This record gives sequence, C-alpha cells and structure tokens, in this order.
Amino acid sequence: MGVKADIGIAGLAVMGANLALNFESKGNRVALYNRSEDKLEYFMNSAGKGKNFQATSSIPEFLGMLEHPRKIILLIRSGKPVDDFIRNMEPHLVPGDIIIDAGNSFYRDTQRRAEHLKKRGVEYVGLGISGGEEGAFYGPSLMAGCSEKAWKELEGPLNAIAAKAEGKTCCARVGTDGAGHFVKMIHNGIEYADMQLIAEAYAYMRDGLKMTPDEMSRAFERWNTTPELGSYLIGITANILKKKDADTGNYLVDMILDTAGQKGTGKWTSEAAFDLSVSTPTIAESVFARIVSSLKEERMEAYELLPGCEVKELGRVSRTQELEKLKHALTAAKLCVFAQGFSLITTAAKAFKWEIDPAEVADIWQGGCIIRAAMLTDIAKAYRKDPKLENLLLSPVFRNTLATVNSDWRNIASYCIRSNIAIPALSSTIAYYDSFRTAKLPANMIQALRDYFGSHMFERIDAPRGKMFHAEWFDSATKITSTDYNV
Ligand code: 6PG
Repeated sequence: MGVKADIGIAGLAVMGANLALNFESKGNRVALYNRSEDKLEYFMNSAGKGKNFQATSSIPEFLGMLEHPRKIILLIRSGKPVDDFIRNMEPHLVPGDIIIDAGNSFYRDTQRRAEHLKKRGVEYVGLGISGGEEGAFYGPSLMAGCSEKAWKELEGPLNAIAAKAEGKTCCARVGTDGAGHFVKMIHNGIEYADMQLIAEAYAYMRDGLKMTPDEMSRAFERWNTTPELGSYLIGITANILKKKDADTGNYLVDMILDTAGQKGTGKWTSEAAFDLSVSTPTIAESVFARIVSSLKEERMEAYELLPGCEVKELGRVSRTQELEKLKHALTAAKLCVFAQGFSLITTAAKAFKWEIDPAEVADIWQGGCIIRAAMLTDIAKAYRKDPKLENLLLSPVFRNTLATVNSDWRNIASYCIRSNIAIPALSSTIAYYDSFRTAKLPANMIQALRDYFGSHMFERIDAPRGKMFHAEWFDSATKITSTDYNV
C-alpha cells in the first residue's frame, strides 16, 4: 500500500469528479470510491490520468486508503442513498472519522445523522456546496455545519478549494450539525425566486415591449454591470438569450418548452418558513410558479376557454424608460427576496442555537455560488453595522434604495397585471413589502371572525399585549341562521 490519501471522495458523478480534481490541484492526495467500476476506470484514464488519485469500488478498501483522521466526502444523491452509504460504512468506521455530506441533503436528515454518529465518536458534517459543476472545479461557495473539532481538520483543505471574492474566501463554518445544509437550502430558495423574477422580467420584455432575444440580451448585459443587479444569474441570462439552436437556427430559448423542473430545495425552504413562522412568499410563489408551468396542457386549454388571455398592447412608451423602470422593479424585488431568505436564516439560527452570522453568509455568497450578486456586499455591510437587524429592508442603505425604486416597481407590476402578464413573484414582493410596512393591518377582522365562529379570542388595542378577550357575538341582531343565506 502506497502513501495514504488526505481526502476521500465517494461518488464520481460530475460534481464529485470536479471536486476531486479541485482538491488534487491544491496538492491533496485523493482517494476515490464509486460503485460502478466503469466510471472509476474512465476517470482514471481521462481527467484523472497521471494525477494523485487512488480509486476503488470497495468501501473497506476506500476507507483503508485514507490518512487518520479520515475525511470522507460524500457526493451522492440525497435522501435514502446517503443513509444506505452510511450504513454500509458503519462497520468500518472508527472514532475520529469525519464524514462530510456535500450533497443537497435535507437539514433535518443531517441533524439526525450527526446525532446518530456522534454516539460512535464519528463527526458528521453537513456541507452545502454551491456553484454547479464549474464551481466544483474552479472554486465553489462552501457552507459547513459541524463541530469546532471537525472544522479544525477541514478548514485548511476546504478554504483551499473554495472561491475567493472581495479578498475573502467563500467558505465558512456557519454553525453546528444541520446549519450548513440549512443555509444552502435557503441559498436555493433565493435562487428559485431570483430565477422566477428574471423570467418575469423576460416576459415583460418579450410580450410587453416586444423585444428580440438579442435586444433583451443587451439589456441584461447592461444590468449586469450595475451595483443593483450585477449577478451571476443576470450575466448568464444575457448569454442564454444570445444562443442559437444548432438544428433550427432559431434562438435556443424560444425552442425550450415552458415547463420548469425542480428537485425540491425550494419546497423545503418554503416548508421551513411555515415551520418557523417566517414570511417568505416570493420563494413559495416561485415554487408554485414552477408547478403551474408544469401543467402545460391545462394551461393551453385554459388559454382557449378563459376570456381575454392575450397580452394587451403597451401603447406608445419609451423602451429606454420602461427598461429603467423594470430595472428598478427587479432591484426592489431582489432585495425583498434576500430579506425573506435572511429572515429565515436568522430565525432558524435562534431556534436551533446555530449562532449563524448573517454578514458571514453574505460574504461567502459573494463568490462561487449561483446567487452571487453585487448586492450582497451591501447586505454584508448592513448586518455588520447592525448584527441584530430584524429585517434587511430596515437597514438605512436599503430604505433609500426602496424609496428610489418604489413607484417604478408598482408601475411595472400594475402594467403586467392589467395586460395579462403573469408575475407571481414580482407581485408577491410588493405584497410582502406593503404588509411588512403597514402599521395597521386588517387582521383585527380575522380575529373577530375567529372569535365569532370558534371563540378563539382576541387581544384589544386598549389592553396589555397577551391579555385575551372573547365577545358575546350572538345577540339577536347579529346571529346568523341558515335562513339568512341561500345554499
Ligand atoms: C447550486 C445549485 C445546485 C442545483 C440546484 C437545482 O447551488 O449549485 O443550487 O444545488 O443546481 O439544486 O435545483 P432545482 O433542480 O430544484 O432547480
């Protein structure tokens, strides 16, 4: 047996292979495991040829290749395959081993696995990785959830492979057990909303402003150079809009069926928001928007059956001015999405005692990851200035931004609503903002209704908070009987 490996990677699909190459390029000896030998052989004879890799399809042999404390990175499908793999490794594990789950695992599963393995003295790390295949190779954004002891072993190698941005490394231990996967899940929830907003802006340009893909591409390119909208997703949107289909010569985007897929992290984010009582409507709307998009046949039938579905003409407008308004609308909406995501992170941090530093999360999202955006620099600053900030929208810098873009944001949304352009995410950001800043909501009516039919009680404006009241609603004047309405 030769020299032992510094790191082990189990799972040689694209992410695993690229991450393995990244680790090796930083001077690590890397042991590789994959169930199928073909994949291993292919890798060792192509990208891995002549490099510092050892490969096997046997778990005991794989573990035997590693230097203690053994660092075992799993890049396998989340859910049952991770449990199965851990079960297969368990007889061969020893105290001090560190298992790093680098997939998009559900944070509750990570907490459960960490708890279970702790009893055996094995460290379990939930590592959120963002950046897709390219990020894994050139430098991803890394969000770790683990003990300080495990972090001491991992900090060096993980920092070395991570992306760098604004002079910082996009890698941090954000908390214990499930914290890393939780933060990655929120990253993905924001990613869903960000993409839905881009798609809605594209709909306004395409159907409202009647722009060609090339024209739209130039607008996105311009926006990508601004501090408000500059971001990876805006940049790749500009590229996508330029691409032609090799078969037809048409723009490729026009040849893609309008049904969006999903693997579930946006849904998990929304579920966590309900569990923790945090309002993240735009993320939830973005999940629903993908669901509606998947009902292609139903939508086509509804288009024929329901009245007036065509997009109404915008009339004579200045395209330059409309694009400026649209940029403002996207800026406000994007800010609301970050506000929703960060509120969920800070609430979860308290609930799970994770001590997540939101400024650090904003830092590590500035490079390598899919939602990297210029706006995150100000978000990091806002949380550094006031680490207890309840909602990003309240930070002075963003209050000013919102004041500037407010009327254009509403203008675009109201045009879209009047013209039949569906904008579930954009309109939900306005509802979120308006609800958040309304000092007197109509929820007193909800309380009255609840108390009326179910004695659920209410608080009064002239009594201390928490003191509950019930009213005798059923006097002869207000009692509703079945004869008062027609069924
Ligand atoms: C990333 C991405 C990555 C993956 C999404 C796609 O950060 O690198 O978020 O994790 O592309 O999970 O998710 P959907 O298939 O649900 O859109």
